[in-house]
Amino acid sequence: MKAAEIRNTFLKFFESKGHQIVASSPVVPGDDPTLLFTNAGMNQFKDVFLGYDKRAYSRATTAQKCIRAGGKHNDLDNVGYTARHHTFFEMLGNFSFGDYFKKDAIGYAWELLTEHFKLPAEKLWVTVYSEDDEAYEIWNKQVGVPAERIVRIGDNKGGRYMSDNFWMMGDTGPCGPCTEIFYDHGPDVAGGPPGSPNEDGDRYIEIWNNVFMQFNRTEDGVMHKLPKPSVDTGMGLERLTAVLQHVHSNYEIDLFVNLLAAAKQAVDTATPAGGDCDKDSPSLKVIADHIRACAFTVVDGVIPGNAGRGYVLRRIARRAIRHGYKLGARTPFFHKLVAALAREMGDAYPELRRDEARVTEVLKQEEERFFKTIATGMELLESALAGGATQVDGETAFKLHDTYGFPVDLTADVCRERGVTVDEAGFNRLLGEQKDRGRQAGKFKMAQGLAYEGAATAFHGYDQLLREDAKVVALYVDGSAVQSADAGDDVVVVLDHTPFYAESGGQVGDAGELRNATTRVVVDDTLKIQADVFGHHAQVAEGTIKVGDAFTARVDAERRARTVRNHSATHLMHKALREVLGAHVQQKGSLVNAERTRFDFAHTAPMTADEIRKVEAIVNAEILANADAQAQVMALDDAQKSGAMMLFGEKYGDTVRVLSIGSSKELCGGTHVRRTGDIGLFKIVAESGVAAGIRRVEAVTGENALHYLQSLESTLTAVAGTLKAAPSEVELRVQAVLDQVRALEKDLAAAKSKLASAQGDELLSQAVDVKGLKVLAATLVGADAKTLRETMDKLKDKLKTAAIVLAAVDGDKVQLAAGVTADSIGKVKAGELVNFVAQQVGGKGGGKPDLAMAGGTDAKGLPAALASVQAWVGERI
Ligand code: ALA
Repeated sequence: MKAAEIRNTFLKFFESKGHQIVASSPVVPGDDPTLLFTNAGMNQFKDVFLGYDKRAYSRATTAQKCIRAGGKHNDLDNVGYTARHHTFFEMLGNFSFGDYFKKDAIGYAWELLTEHFKLPAEKLWVTVYSEDDEAYEIWNKQVGVPAERIVRIGDNKGGRYMSDNFWMMGDTGPCGPCTEIFYDHGPDVAGGPPGSPNEDGDRYIEIWNNVFMQFNRTEDGVMHKLPKPSVDTGMGLERLTAVLQHVHSNYEIDLFVNLLAAAKQAVDTATPAGGDCDKDSPSLKVIADHIRACAFTVVDGVIPGNAGRGYVLRRIARRAIRHGYKLGARTPFFHKLVAALAREMGDAYPELRRDEARVTEVLKQEEERFFKTIATGMELLESALAGGATQVDGETAFKLHDTYGFPVDLTADVCRERGVTVDEAGFNRLLGEQKDRGRQAGKFKMAQGLAYEGAATAFHGYDQLLREDAKVVALYVDGSAVQSADAGDDVVVVLDHTPFYAESGGQVGDAGELRNATTRVVVDDTLKIQADVFGHHAQVAEGTIKVGDAFTARVDAERRARTVRNHSATHLMHKALREVLGAHVQQKGSLVNAERTRFDFAHTAPMTADEIRKVEAIVNAEILANADAQAQVMALDDAQKSGAMMLFGEKYGDTVRVLSIGSSKELCGGTHVRRTGDIGLFKIVAESGVAAGIRRVEAVTGENALHYLQSLESTLTAVAGTLKAAPSEVELRVQAVLDQVRALEKDLAAAKSKLASAQGDELLSQAVDVKGLKVLAATLVGADAKTLRETMDKLKDKLKTAAIVLAAVDGDKVQLAAGVTADSIGKVKAGELVNFVAQQVGGKGGGKPDLAMAGGTDAKGLPAALASVQAWVGERI
């Protein structure tokens, strides 16, 4: 049975038991900052288990794309060393949301395995959580599994509920005791039954985990009972397929055969002078596994980077590349496997075909980057390993990481092959020191050297632009705290209350004015000097400012209005970009000021004109709909549930601000318009690439958009004026003018050639007979290289036996052609002749014996050079 058929049989079986077939969710969980990657089928149902979300069905079944390469469930280090671990795999699952429980779950599992997949009952072992007598009884009494093949497993992982048979999604979330089904691959494979000391061998393989979801674990470690006991199961498609295809290793199943062959071919092609690596090498398995994880991750919008998911992707990709390098590859090969993968899995996951070109490009760029440093890095590592070292020191591992882009697990992977360890503690210490240095620098920048120990600033600027009771609580000149400052001084002012927004989340700080009866202070920017303390960067324009003074603080309303228009438009644009380009579009950076919005996002290809127009149309439609904007402060959990967009890796507090505007909903602390209509008009003005896999869009709104369009219009009007055409006719007229220019160029070329050949006829009479050979050296007025050649051909035809030099002059520049008729090339060579002349005009040249071209830069020498030709030829015949 092929893997595709097995997947289908599973889903259909549960459909026949009243389960809804639900599509796999992305490998990047859209709105769950607690989860690095989707690691189980139940992830997309987390809120349903917790009772926060309701679905139209109470039973579901899925084939889910999963990644276990970071976070709580991490199999990366095992890939290539065991027959059954993957970074990417498909999990088949059935779920009951407060519907059936242990009895039916176990019954279904047994029926499917023994009756539909026809696995012999005596080959199946099961484990239960030691305290779960109920599950034990069901297996033993109801299903009839003999006691010697049921193993009870307790808290074997160092804590209460820390057990192979107690499943948790992460440190928090739904969890419960589980029962696992194992397949015995037979005595010729090493390994012991579950719970025995050598259970890690490949003989007894866990194929299916049935979790009885009963608790929600919160951060404080407390287990809260779920509203209704539920079921969550997971069976690795690859493992089950290995069993059903009677092979011991997952890597021998049909899903991997073509991928492994493609990996071998890609590596061999990238090996200098061609390679022929061992087709059974574990390295090929690593590559075949990793291309799946990398491709699916990139499909969902991750690109290789130095933090969070981007770094996991980089680690997997580089680990694969290193294995290819080990097999001989010296140029990029890994990205080529995307096509093979799309062929293999594109039917089940069409997104692979849809994004094939983009994924290939992203991985290619990462590969090109790593191939620049891998050779030098490997040399460094080899020299550290030479001489029988048993451990690679932390400093070398850190240097490899920092200078050569070797993630430490890659270094450890090489070491493991040689039976050597890495001083990870030493590495982590150096990494920690580097981070501290970075933090120090960051802190310094934020504080800008300003010492402040007072209360936080109360910010009122979401709905007020004017505050009449702002009191100065601290004042700084040249980085030092002062009690007062005078007209002309540049100051940083801290107020107890302020309507000024301090730069954050990409939105620039406000400008404006502080004023009282005697003093006026002009604020040109507002920046945080500590997390909640705003520094107003300003200049005292009149009077004196003192700590304790009260001011009316007034934000520059016009500048703020332009800024918020751009900020709100950014949210609408973000949403529209995802609609037009795909859900992989993720924000990578943004800048919003009074002039424009600049938005960076993950996407490989330049946007087409059509895509840009679509995004503009969507955003402007939202503007015309004039929906209102609402900000709500809520618990992070609730924000997640509401479906608000949030950025992974961002540190959100327990309560967050969710900004809903039009159809967009995002976590945001910035200031916004009241209604979408306030944005006025939205226009994209630039689209470019800023880094590998990252595009940048710049756009304008409101008056800025109007000015932009007006300036385009005035350019158009000016061009139309020059062309003496109406603006609507400009395109046609420009086309007509260009056609005319082209026609004229053609006429000119023809005229030149005619002129030159006329000159050629005149020149015939200037040829001098030197011992039976006609020698001619002359200048053609107005000729170019082409005309020189054409005239040369004609002269050769007419003079029959001849050596000819033709020159054309343009300022100081000289073009030369030398030609010798076929009957005379034994005596005179055109290449030598042209070189002889060229040397006299500051140039050099050469060519074939019958025709050669050259150039020179000293036209003054030309008459003498041409005059010398006759003698030069004379000497040679
Ligand atoms: N969620 C369970 C697992 O991943 C089924 O093993």
